[in-house]
Amino acid sequence: MLVPDLKKITKPIWSHKLGYGVNQQGWFKLNNPGQATAPEDPKLLQKLGVKKGEKVLFIAGYYADWASFLVKKGVKVDYNDVSEQMIDYVKKNIKIKFNKYIHSNYELIPKKEKEYDWTITFEACGGSQGLPIAYLRSLLNNKGGILILFYQRGGHMGSKWKRYPSIVKKLAKIYNTTFSIKEMKIVGRKKGGPRSSLLHRVYIIRTNNQARELVKKDLSELTSNKFSKDSLIRLSKVAKLIKKEFLKEVAA
Ligand SMILES: C[S@@+](CC[C@H](N)C(=O)[O-])C[C@H]1O[C@@H](n2cnc3c(N)ncnc32)[C@H](O)[C@@H]1O
Repeated sequence: MLVPDLKKITKPIWSHKLGYGVNQQGWFKLNNPGQATAPEDPKLLQKLGVKKGEKVLFIAGYYADWASFLVKKGVKVDYNDVSEQMIDYVKKNIKIKFNKYIHSNYELIPKKEKEYDWTITFEACGGSQGLPIAYLRSLLNNKGGILILFYQRGGHMGSKWKRYPSIVKKLAKIYNTTFSIKEMKIVGRKKGGPRSSLLHRVYIIRTNNQARELVKKDLSELTSNKFSKDSLIRLSKVAKLIKKEFLKEVAA
């Protein structure tokens, strides 16, 4: 049976160039270093279903526009990125301070259950590589995981539009949890432009006690490489979200 191979998944295939952006045409110099959109919506927490005081692990945090706005709104945020350069940049240039700056592959965090309420990302890459594992891990949280995409007609990188809904739908089915997909306007700025109401899509997966236990078991078996029959069945379903080159064959 094919299951995710964490070693292959976490092997770096590209490293982010600071001050540059990337799209289907390749790298381009950013005039305005920052995320595709920067939120300024007074009702953002309400819209995302996140509460003031909750603990958020913000993965693939990039230039931190989203992560830092959550801090402004009273959320306790740990910032993560796999790029050391990006973390240094954020430490030096972003006035808002995060609880922690976690230099890690997002596939490996959180390590423990109930350490966070939510895992959140804005437009993270890796939808068919490690992102399904990061959102599998988000089921260890108190509440679950949230993925956010800015709605850009025709201009979207990769296959996030297809990958994000299948991540929340399939994981919810395998672990018997609930999900929601909502389209909503969020007030903010697009690349330093004027403040306006920008269309975003928000994908939410919610965990529960049983899902948390199953995910804990499956992740531990994935690490030890010793599989029980039920974990193997679930992990082979998770593997369907991931490209074949990041999977390994194990005996059924
Ligand atoms: C958020 S994504 C794409 C940016 C998006 N277009 C935006 O406007 O926000 C880019 C960031 O993800 C980070 N990243 C990529 N793979 C990662 C991984 N496996 N774990 C943690 N961070 C990762 C990169 O270092 C980079 O800072």
